[in-house]
Amino acid sequence: MSTKNKKVIEWIEDVVKMCQPDKVHWCDGSKEESDRFFQQMVDSGAAIRLNQEKRPGCYLFRSHPSDVGRVEERTFIASRRKEDAGPLNNWIDPVELKKTMTELYTGCMKGRTMYVIPFSMGPIGSPISKIGIEVTDSLYVVENMRIMTRIGNEVLANLGEEDEFVRCLHSVGAPLAAGEQDVPWPCEPDLEKKFISHFPEERMIWSYGSGYGGNALLGKKCFALRIASVQARDEGWLAEHMLILGITDPQGNKKYIAGAFPSATGKTNLAMHIPTIPGWKVETIGDDIAWMRFGEDGRLYAINPEAGFFGVAPGTSMDSNPNAMRTIAQNTIFTNVALTDDGDVWWEGIGYDAPDHLIDWKGNDWTPDSKEPAAHPNARFTTPISQCPVIAPEWEDPMGVPISAILVGGRRPTTIPLVHQSFDWHHGIFLGLILGSEITAATISDNIGQVRRDPFAMLPFIGYHVCDYLQHWLDMGKKTDPEKLPKIFYVNWFRKDESGQYLWPGFGENSRVIKWIIERVSGCGKAVKTPIGYMPSPEDINTQDLEIAPGNLEKLLEVNKDMWIQEIASIKEYFGKFDRLPQDMKDELKALEQRIMVY
Ligand code: GTP
Ligand code: SPV
Ligand code: MN
Repeated sequence: MSTKNKKVIEWIEDVVKMCQPDKVHWCDGSKEESDRFFQQMVDSGAAIRLNQEKRPGCYLFRSHPSDVGRVEERTFIASRRKEDAGPLNNWIDPVELKKTMTELYTGCMKGRTMYVIPFSMGPIGSPISKIGIEVTDSLYVVENMRIMTRIGNEVLANLGEEDEFVRCLHSVGAPLAAGEQDVPWPCEPDLEKKFISHFPEERMIWSYGSGYGGNALLGKKCFALRIASVQARDEGWLAEHMLILGITDPQGNKKYIAGAFPSATGKTNLAMHIPTIPGWKVETIGDDIAWMRFGEDGRLYAINPEAGFFGVAPGTSMDSNPNAMRTIAQNTIFTNVALTDDGDVWWEGIGYDAPDHLIDWKGNDWTPDSKEPAAHPNARFTTPISQCPVIAPEWEDPMGVPISAILVGGRRPTTIPLVHQSFDWHHGIFLGLILGSEITAATISDNIGQVRRDPFAMLPFIGYHVCDYLQHWLDMGKKTDPEKLPKIFYVNWFRKDESGQYLWPGFGENSRVIKWIIERVSGCGKAVKTPIGYMPSPEDINTQDLEIAPGNLEKLLEVNKDMWIQEIASIKEYFGKFDRLPQDMKDELKALEQRIMVY
């Protein structure tokens, strides 16, 4: 241990007393440490080393079938006052929750080693970065955190003796009795005993029972969104569920875009897409989270607080996302994908047929005749951003990159056109607020066809009251000249025709829409004013070499009065959930309704 920070030392002592691990290991962040841990996991049967010729430095893990993704119903914002958590979060009184969880945590690391991971969200030493310490009893978590964040001695050295940090406690909730054999993926299978808890006033996270993704890699959703959104409110910046990309036009002008899309709605894909229009270049800065604050020049600057991608594997192919495929060629952790007989990975939508035999994500034999998918739909890869072939050279710039446009987008088979631009900042926040995805047959729900609203794609990630969050966005807009604010656009790659086919090809073709957006923020793009915002006419979208059925672009850019009347009714119902919505948002809805009625 190499810190004199008393708060760190005391907190670790307290956690050790409560969790009672056999050993404590402080992660130094070295390559040697990583190699040793992977060897240990291969030896114990927790990890499978993949074919080192095909996938050097790659490993496969299979989770417990009960532990395959974030558990929103077990995610809690334990603010002191219930009203501070707002209507969209689960709330438990923090005193009560700590009591319940202390019982669970007591002795929970018996028979295990406790790993202390000092980590930095953002480049170490950047004025925008923040330090956390995650304590975990999972080596899988350690190795994922090593990829997803910057960890180790350098971080600890950067934490001053008096500095604060975010306390992140994680346990898989599976103590081992003396001599008991461990399982490959220990966790607490009882959903009622899983807790993903946040104590926003204390900047503290307590996670128990799950080892998967956002439940366990606490730097990600728990810290960089839920806790950071509270810090951002208090300190005057924004912590958002957004990708960040840089785009250069054929003349060499480079601009930066951030984009909020709900989980599994295309952030990773858009962040590294290859434009189909000649002469344009996209470079990646981040695929999931953006921290943004105003620079001295009055513009909004963004950093990616992460250092890795935790991306959805199924559907990722050389066709849909070649840059992701190249990124994961080495030094990557795969979780819940299928294993080929020659030690490689396979998943649905990888772009080529499955071989005659696989081991599926549950560890069972699988053939193309099997009924179940070989990879879990939320199977993921954990891979270093630095390996992405189109990484922006400035991706670690401690000052961030200036954002010209903010995109919001959901899965909307109807109503929402391919793209529209907000009239101004307030109207843009309204578009973020009404963002949503239609509930499809893929979700177990009685509400098929209804829209699940997901404000700024932050529904499960705002660490405080959603109305205060919207007010914070409104207040941010007052901090600079209106013309220096990013312009806000609502995009929809997912509109369908009557037979259920996507009207828009998506992926690399989305660059045609981005081109229009760049023209708009540059002041040269043509647009028509519609009741819902500024929109391109079909001829304003570059369609050179685009394979699209005649009439589809017109349908994609249609503002359908009847659909919008329904949409407004649905927004009114949604607004009914909020007890103290900012007046500006109510005014925006009223104004929209008036514009639609005379359309
Ligand atoms: P999280 O990591 O969960 O936050 O997801 P994400 O927002 O990064 O989503 P991702 O890029 O992994 O894409 C999720 C799914 O959307 C994949 O199945 C993609 O194939 C699909 N998808 C992405 N972009 C497009 C698009 O432009 N059009 C269509 N139709 N599908 C897309
Ligand atoms: C998401 O669900 O938005 C993710 C995956 O990015 S997880 O890290 O598990 O939250
Ligand atoms: Mn995400």
